Amino acid sequence: MWWRRGVVYEVYPRSFQDTDGDGVGDLRGVAGRMPYIADLGVDAIWLTPFFASPMRDFGYDISDHCAVDPSFGTLEDFDALVAAAHDHGIKVVLDFVPNHTSDLHPWFEASRSSRESAKRDWYIWRDGNPPNNWVAVFGGPAWEWDEATGQSYYHAYLPEQPDLDWRNPEVRGAMLAVLRFWKARGVDGFRVDAMRQVLKDPSLRDNPRNPEHRGPASEYASLIPEFTTDLDEVQEVVAAIRSEIGDEHLFMAEVTAPIERLVRYYGAEGEGAHLPFNFHLIFNDWSADAIASLIERYESALPEGAWPNWVLGNHDQSRVASRVGPGQARVAAMLLLTLRGTPTIYFGDELGMVDVEVPPERVVDPAGRDPERSPMPWTGEPGRGFCAAGVEPWLPFGDASLNAAAQEADPRSMLALHRRLLALRRDSDDLAEGAYATLVAGPEVLAYRRGTGTAVALNLTGAPAVAPVRGEIVLTTELDGREGERVDGGLALRPGEGAILREGA
Ligand code: NOJ
Repeated sequence: MWWRRGVVYEVYPRSFQDTDGDGVGDLRGVAGRMPYIADLGVDAIWLTPFFASPMRDFGYDISDHCAVDPSFGTLEDFDALVAAAHDHGIKVVLDFVPNHTSDLHPWFEASRSSRESAKRDWYIWRDGNPPNNWVAVFGGPAWEWDEATGQSYYHAYLPEQPDLDWRNPEVRGAMLAVLRFWKARGVDGFRVDAMRQVLKDPSLRDNPRNPEHRGPASEYASLIPEFTTDLDEVQEVVAAIRSEIGDEHLFMAEVTAPIERLVRYYGAEGEGAHLPFNFHLIFNDWSADAIASLIERYESALPEGAWPNWVLGNHDQSRVASRVGPGQARVAAMLLLTLRGTPTIYFGDELGMVDVEVPPERVVDPAGRDPERSPMPWTGEPGRGFCAAGVEPWLPFGDASLNAAAQEADPRSMLALHRRLLALRRDSDDLAEGAYATLVAGPEVLAYRRGTGTAVALNLTGAPAVAPVRGEIVLTTELDGREGERVDGGLALRPGEGAILREGA
């Protein structure tokens, strides 16, 4: 259960560190940056897919689950990365993509070769073009017609990502073996992709129309995905994956769902995910009362014994500093790292990275997620320390002034704030494990108590505000010397300022 006190750092390997001169990050690059990751003070890295892939969805289209894509290196590089991580006390969590493969996976090549193929029913083939009204997450019909065999196959995402049929025991067996392969190589856990999607209605009922949708009918949101996501039987697949992952390894699951559906993914004792990702902060209004109400709804929906978790950013979402704006980025970091539960930090958010403008000719992602995937700026030099000067990075960089080296040298930087927050959290039982209780919920300030004696007060506005909390300031978002200040009659917070206090001190 190391993850209860742990903090997970998401590394998108394409964008972390290039060592072989192709402008694409690689596994050696991640291994070489382990001292930085350890100094930051996180406990685990989650590596997004680095497996063999045609990269139509940048690794979420896998053509060999047990091979490293040559653009990222080799299996030996992977072993060296795990060794480097473990030497630094960092756990390694891999992405597991059960829902679909690449259309170039040998399983799918066999499946599409003929209706008689032994692998035909490893994927979802049906008569009709299209067999029903289902829409793909990235837009357009979720069915692709195959002229040669006269049937359509289902794909929740791109046509190049055919969905596996998890109702087929052979598919289950083959996919669970992938987990065993990586466990044997020493990994510490898995983040399971698209967990809600793994089973679809076998009778292919049409999804109902979404009455609130305004855009074209080809958009995913035009329908309510009642028969393609979150079927009750998905919990059986969750349990099968959990029984393979076990109790010592972490099982995080990607679940985008309303809170009451989300918490079902904790499952019965020993049968669910340890941490079904809680993305609700990403989509919530950024105001003190709205955040307080979200925290309370989530906390009270958690089943007995379930450990919470919080996410503010990942490789699919606009950067948190862009979403909340520069005036709130520090408050956001303090919130994420002081809530009850395991936080996930998206690489670069510790620097306050923002979405990077990508000119049309350099857009590569089919779903428009390039701005949040811009490479890590290690320095302000050409190549940003990510790749050699003169090498074209796979995505453009942002403003040169935002970089890790500059922030290393600045004791008040976002990076410094993250290190301080993470160190404090590590040393504080209140912050790491203590109960959550709202003290003040808006309109300007959100304040809460953690455990028995730690208060957090956050000014969610761009104007000064007073928080009715007491104690001694341990840390503020501005890092400008308020530590040690005693607060009795209300804490005056500057715009976008947050503070952690030791109560009763
Ligand atoms: C969720 C992943 O985070 C995203 O990047 C990917 O495109 C889809 N699942 C499909 O695998």
